[in-house]
Amino acid sequence: MYDNYQRNIDYFRISITDRCNLRCRYCMPEGIPLIPMEQILRYEEILSVCTEAVSLGIRKYKITGGEPLVRIGCADLIRRIKQIPGVEQVTMTTNGVLLSEHLDALVHAEIDGINISLDTLDPARYQSITGFSKLDRVMTAIEEAVDYGLNVKVNCVLQKGINEEDWPELLELARDLPLHVRFIELMPIGEGKKQEGVSNNELFSVISDRYPGIHRDYRIHGNGPAIYYKIPGFRGSLGLISAIHGKFCDSCNRIRMTSTGDLKSCLCYDKGINIREAVRNNDREQIREILKKTICGKPRMHHFEEIKEITEHKKMVQIGG
Ligand code: 5AD
Ligand code: SF4
Repeated sequence: MYDNYQRNIDYFRISITDRCNLRCRYCMPEGIPLIPMEQILRYEEILSVCTEAVSLGIRKYKITGGEPLVRIGCADLIRRIKQIPGVEQVTMTTNGVLLSEHLDALVHAEIDGINISLDTLDPARYQSITGFSKLDRVMTAIEEAVDYGLNVKVNCVLQKGINEEDWPELLELARDLPLHVRFIELMPIGEGKKQEGVSNNELFSVISDRYPGIHRDYRIHGNGPAIYYKIPGFRGSLGLISAIHGKFCDSCNRIRMTSTGDLKSCLCYDKGINIREAVRNNDREQIREILKKTICGKPRMHHFEEIKEITEHKKMVQIGG
């Protein structure tokens, strides 16, 4: 379905839990209250939202969290979304900690790709960013996922004074492994407001000094705004998602739903309609209406550069990135 700015909205990010097994500082602050379980959509309810969304032309789905794999049955949900006629693609975003034990089930579910969030390859820094020493598990899972032949993307957020020096090791993962290493600019949402991110323009300039043969790769297309580059000798590629310095709102194709059923048309703004009641009343007409309203109300662009314009006060862990 098209929004009011001629953008084809065909991609839906669905958060299935606000729980996470890590505590990345820019995402999940200490002491954040957990959402009571009865407010969280059950899988049947998520499936009925997807079924109506497909009827509006939304064919690509991303399962997010919190950490989606902490919710029991996540792979089965993916399998069932994939089985809805008209669904073209279902992928997920995970921190990778529990990925190894779920890989078989995810492959059986015919998942179309896995994004793994990882901001450093340094064990001490990993511990200080995420609060846990689970780096080994994540590295194993990345290699296993690649071995399964899955489409793997490693998503990295660089922060000034914390991990800004870590990009070379992260990028080098793509030398021997056929995966995409993507640097996402830190957005001023939730705890992200308190940290300073790294501009992808500056990053790209240091990367191209180090890898002179780097060039745009127009063949690689994800669902989103990443711009991809090939580096000679690399099996994988580099992706840059420049949410702040390369505003890509003109081609934004997505809506989001939180685990409680809040629909969001833009990360920057709080305005959104809750779909839970319509779902619990099994009112398909109403579900479709709410989805349509969300799409029609999608703002033309974000205003992350104007902190006071940002009306979203939820934490990233509640939205799902
Ligand atoms: N800006 C950009 N990315 C963020 N993430 C969490 N918070 C932010 C933020 N403020 C990312 C995580 C993870 C994904 C779910 O969202 O690093 O990759
Ligand atoms: Fe959990 Fe991901 Fe947020 Fe880290 S960034 S706390 S892994 S949801």
